[in-house]
This record gives sequence, structure tokens and C-alpha cells, in this order.
Amino acid sequence: MYIEKVKKTMNLPGKVVIFDTTLRDGEQTPGVALTVDEKIRIAKKLDQLGVETIEVGFPVASDGEKEAAREILSLGLDAQVCGLARTLKRDLDAAIDADVDYIHTFIGTSPLHRKFKLKMSKEDILNKAVDAVEYIKDHGIMAEFSAEDATRTEFDYLSEIYQAVDEAGVDYINVPDTVGVMIPRSMNWIIKELKNNIKSPISVHCHDDFGLAVANSLAAVEAGAEQVHATVNGLGERAGNAALEEVTMALIARYDISVNIKTQQLVNISEFVSRITGIKMPPNKSIVGDNAFAHESGIHVHGILENAETYEPITPEMVGHTRKIVLGKHTGANALRSKLDEYGIDLNEDQFCTVYDQIKNLGDKGKMVTDADLRAIAVTVVGRVKEEIVKLESFAVMTGENVMPTATVKLSINNEIKAISKTGVGPVDAAINAIQSLVSEDIELKEYHIEAITGGTNALAEVFVVMSDSEGNNATGRSTREDVVMASVEAVLNSINKILMVR
Ligand code: KIV
Ligand code: ZN
Repeated sequence: MYIEKVKKTMNLPGKVVIFDTTLRDGEQTPGVALTVDEKIRIAKKLDQLGVETIEVGFPVASDGEKEAAREILSLGLDAQVCGLARTLKRDLDAAIDADVDYIHTFIGTSPLHRKFKLKMSKEDILNKAVDAVEYIKDHGIMAEFSAEDATRTEFDYLSEIYQAVDEAGVDYINVPDTVGVMIPRSMNWIIKELKNNIKSPISVHCHDDFGLAVANSLAAVEAGAEQVHATVNGLGERAGNAALEEVTMALIARYDISVNIKTQQLVNISEFVSRITGIKMPPNKSIVGDNAFAHESGIHVHGILENAETYEPITPEMVGHTRKIVLGKHTGANALRSKLDEYGIDLNEDQFCTVYDQIKNLGDKGKMVTDADLRAIAVTVVGRVKEEIVKLESFAVMTGENVMPTATVKLSINNEIKAISKTGVGPVDAAINAIQSLVSEDIELKEYHIEAITGGTNALAEVFVVMSDSEGNNATGRSTREDVVMASVEAVLNSINKILMVR
């Protein structure tokens, strides 16, 4: 509504092209290194998602980078396959040799880069940029030019170098905010000014050092930028780049701009990239985080159940997500009723009040209430299961220096006695391995937290675990004991019993 008022003052393009750099800048995320095979798998997903260009790497950097580019090219994807290259001949030749259809060439232009990194004059840098673009174009390849650290470069010089590569036939002018120093209004200003003198389409590449990468990318689009560089999950050097999922959804849902992205695949690709890179998304991550469509407070859940638009700006289905009603201390009766309905649990008014009180109590104690916890509480209240399915009969553990920690566990499972010994990296691990192999390998430990409640060697230890099974049942378990290993065993059994109860 308010956007419509300000849109009139913008120079919005009808369509924005997504240049994905997950495999290049995203791979520069500290701790991330992708194999050729992993790059291929991510490239296929990016292509299905609909990005126009995939920057697959820096071919001169290694044989693996070149091989990745070649292998991705051989897939015959719809997306253009781009390689990064400095304006050096050996970089450009490496990219040409990898057969890419698109070369993104760059050279530092800011006073800092000129003086400390390149030790080159403005004129030499400009000539290098023009030569590189001409060399790429002479080979019949698409060329994009970036003035590295553009946003800390004197504007007249920046404009001069961009005009020179524009005249040399570059296909895209890219404006990198290399260290994320822009604010939306300054990004808007620079793009607007550049547009006055440049014919080629303008692209932006924003880093997130101040959490402004997405806002700055959008500000560039408001000034007429036609392409945005982005990465899945906002991966990238230091604090990362503009997150593809956020830029895309803002452009589509807020600006009404056409973007060639199949938005229903966004959560899937986010999870895929997270698994491969090992970089987990925080639950409150926009668009793709676990909590992006989760509602806890009674007031919100009430609104959502009446009309989801009350507390959701877009539908979860639009990005391949699912809505979650979370139970906790802010839970209202409506939320609880809807959850119980979802699981087909029918309670009378007294039973409902008991379950409601227990959930509130757990929430007040700062405890998380998972769906399996709720089902276990409800099942117990209804009285269907009065006994634990798995009970500990006996337990012994052996550990020390130069011995393999070994746990021997005897359990009663549905009144049948079973025993086993298992090793592990430590006594807790050995005990959990033994329990799992007796009960079900399908139930896995997802979280394990331990806290010493009192001081001293006889301190009380509180162990909190979350276990889950392949059907998606999660349950918490908790125990407090002086013996850490026993507390762990009890917490695990507590959680396993809840999962078995609802299966
Ligand atoms: O952030 C940056 O400046 C870059 C360049 C290679 C464009 O990633
Ligand atoms: Zn970058």
C-alpha cells in the first residue's frame, strides 16, 4: 500500500536477472570448500531454480575449478556458465580454456586497492580493464566487468572506467560493494548517476558487512539496475552476499518485478546448500528459516487460524515452506485445539485443561514443547499409555585411559528383556549407542545439552536431549542426576519413550 506511493519515484526495470555466485563468492565463505561433484549438484539445482547465470568459480585458481566449469558446461544447462578472472591474461586464458560462455573480469579501482594491492596508476588500471573486455569479446564470450571496491572509488574515475569498458563492448557493468559499506540511498545514488552515461545493463554485487546487502541490492534496482548478484542462504566472503531467496521474494512480492525464479524451490535449495556446505541457517532466517512461518503467541495463532494474511506477508507454499503452530508459554487455547485436531486427539474439557496447563508450565520453565511432547502429554492424560515402553533394568560403563569406552545396557522393551554392550568415543556415546541398537537405529540423537546446576565434583548435572525418528517425530528428554552418564541415559530413555508412545 505505501510501496505504491513511493514506486512512482523509482526507475524500476520490468525484469531483474539473477546472477548466482553461490559456487564462487559463496564458496569463499570461511570454512566452505566444494568438491567438483558438489558444485555439479548445486549447479543443477540452481539451473532448475531458474537463475540466468551461474558463476561456477575462478578457473585460474586450480585444476579442480577448471574441471568444475567444464563438467557444469557439459550438462547443457539453460543457465549461462560464468568464470571469474582478474584482468590478467593468464586468468582470462584459464577461463577461455575452461570453455565458459561468460567471463566476469575485475580489477580493484579504489585508492586503497590502487596503492596497497595493485600499486598501479588509475590510467594503467583503466587500460587493463578495457584490454580484458576486448580480449573476452574477441573470443566471442559474454563479458561482465567489475570495478572491485567500486563503492570506495572516486565517482569521476569510476564513471570514466565504466564508460571505457562500455565503449569496449562489455555486456554487463557490475558495481561491487566489496566491503558492504553502502547504505540504500548511496547505492541508489551511484546507480542513478552511472545510468546517465552508460548504455550496458547495470548489475550490483552487495556484501553484508552491515546487514544491508539485500536492502542495497533493492535500492540499486530502484535506480534501474537490471541484474543482481546473489547467493543461496546469503553465503559469501566474511558476512556474505545478498541472499538470493530474500532478494527474489522482495522483488516479486514487494516490487512486482518479474524474476525467473521458481520460488517454490527456495526452501529446498536452501536446505540442500546448507547440507552440502555445512553452514546452518538460523531458525529466524527470512524466507527459508525454520521459524519463517512459525507462530507461537495465542494472539497470532488466533489470527492465522481465521485468516493467514493477518500474520503472514506471503504464503509458505510460495517458497516451498510449511506453516507451523508452535506450542510454548504464549500458546493460546485456539492453537492447542488446532494442534490436537491435526493429530486427531479428542479430549474432553477437563483433559483439555490439564494438557493446556502442562504446556504452559513447561513453557514457563523455558522448555520447548515439540509435537511429539504434546502427543505424549495428551496420550498420558487420556490414559491410553500408563507405562513406559522402554525401562532401564541395569547399566554399567567402563572407561579410562587406553581403553575403549564400553557400555553394557539391559532394557525391558514391551516387557521383554534385552541386553547389549557397545563402544563409543566416550561413556555417554557408548551408552547411547547401546540403547539405540536395542530399541531402534531409526531413533537418532539430534541435540544434547548438559548443564551443571550446582558447583563441585558432585554437582547436579541436567541433561537435555532431542531425539527424532525417520517419520519426523521429535521429542525432548530431560534428567537431572549427580552422575552425568546416568542423567544422559535417563534423558535419552525419556525422549525415546515419548516417540514410541506416539508411533
Ligand atoms: O566483492 C567483490 O568485489 C567481488 C569481486 C570479484 C566482484 O566478489
Ligand atoms: Zn564479492
